[in-house]
Amino acid sequence: MYQINENYQKLPGSYLFSTIAKKVKAFSEKNPDANIISLGIGDVTQPLAPAIIEAMHKAVDEMANAETFRGYAPDLGYDFLRNAIVKNDYEARGCDIAADEIFVSDGAKSDSGNIQEIFSLENRIAVCDPVYPVYVDSNVMAGRCGDYNLDTQTWSNVIYMPCVKENDFVPEFPKEAPDMIYLCLPNNPTGTTIKKSQLQEWVNYANKVGAVIIYDAAYEAYISESDVAHSIYECEGAKTCAIELKSFSKNAGFTGVRLGYTVVPKELKCGDVSLHDMWARRHGTKFNGAPYIIQRAGEAVYSDAGKAQVKEQVGNYMKNAALIKEGLKDAGYEVFGGVNSPYIWLKTPQNMKSWDFFDYLLENANVVGTPGSGFGPSGEGYFRLTAFGSYENSVAAIERIKKL
Ligand SMILES: Cc1ncc(COP(=O)(O)O)c(C=O)c1O
Repeated sequence: MYQINENYQKLPGSYLFSTIAKKVKAFSEKNPDANIISLGIGDVTQPLAPAIIEAMHKAVDEMANAETFRGYAPDLGYDFLRNAIVKNDYEARGCDIAADEIFVSDGAKSDSGNIQEIFSLENRIAVCDPVYPVYVDSNVMAGRCGDYNLDTQTWSNVIYMPCVKENDFVPEFPKEAPDMIYLCLPNNPTGTTIKKSQLQEWVNYANKVGAVIIYDAAYEAYISESDVAHSIYECEGAKTCAIELKSFSKNAGFTGVRLGYTVVPKELKCGDVSLHDMWARRHGTKFNGAPYIIQRAGEAVYSDAGKAQVKEQVGNYMKNAALIKEGLKDAGYEVFGGVNSPYIWLKTPQNMKSWDFFDYLLENANVVGTPGSGFGPSGEGYFRLTAFGSYENSVAAIERIKKL
């Protein structure tokens, strides 16, 4: 008789956004005339930029000719894309990253869930709390997190680093030294980030205690302040302690197209074992390459026209962010984020529980957001709204909230 991976049985409830979808569906069935505005899931709404579409069309045509047809892509990524990434995302910022340290993938969700595979099950992970749920859940599936406590909503073997208004949403070094540290900056869900000097301290800390940092920079394109690092490799010593994850989803609207990459520097070693070689082995064995058409689309993000177009799109979302943030402040809410990120993080009124506020907003304003507690225990009492909707919907949602 076969047995299952019992670790899956330990996962509580369903994935956050499935629960939200079920609640919204039930509400719409009961209230078919309600015009619901979703500022919930972090999905983009603007179409792919013209330069990207043009590159995709061209690549599709190439697939129709025997001379230009492409089969399996190189599993670590085409050189044209890896070179464009190095030039624009690293060289331009003074970071010394080589093309063969870039591993092209189908997005940061897969990479952030898969990266833990190359580490021992004995390792202890540390996560910002609240944070993108994939880091903890993927480690639970692997069997690294111990047991779940329903009351505290914490795992016995996870080190939580609360990021709350009292510490300006800046994670503090944990009392017990972790082995793997997940940093998501700018942060999903709080929309806050830390200064480059503070990130440098994390790099120094990781090098000192012998930890690896898994640095998720999915929202890097939204950074507007000059003292915030766009890549962890802007910090001295990061190449010996950090892996960086990037996505094309939020900067260029690839959520449905799927493209991302991971950087594993060759200097990153555990003893004399190269993590770069391990990830190359893992990627080569389990991944057959992102599609040629999509990698050409990714290359177009770095063309002059592509850069200008995606910058404009990010600017549009950030206009929404400013509008939502100001509108909520006017309505008397305590609000965070929204400056270096498309997420606005608000304190629920009268210390309402996050899910109660979700129901309240859905029922009274027909606006959908995301309960903070879904991202970790320290998210309780907070709520996330995204700037990824249309401008009109953002305006309408704020008008409704102001009337509550
Ligand atoms: C922090 C963070 N990392 C990764 C992802 C997923 O990115 P991708 O679409 O590239 O899989 C998300 C998506 O919401 C995210 O918030």
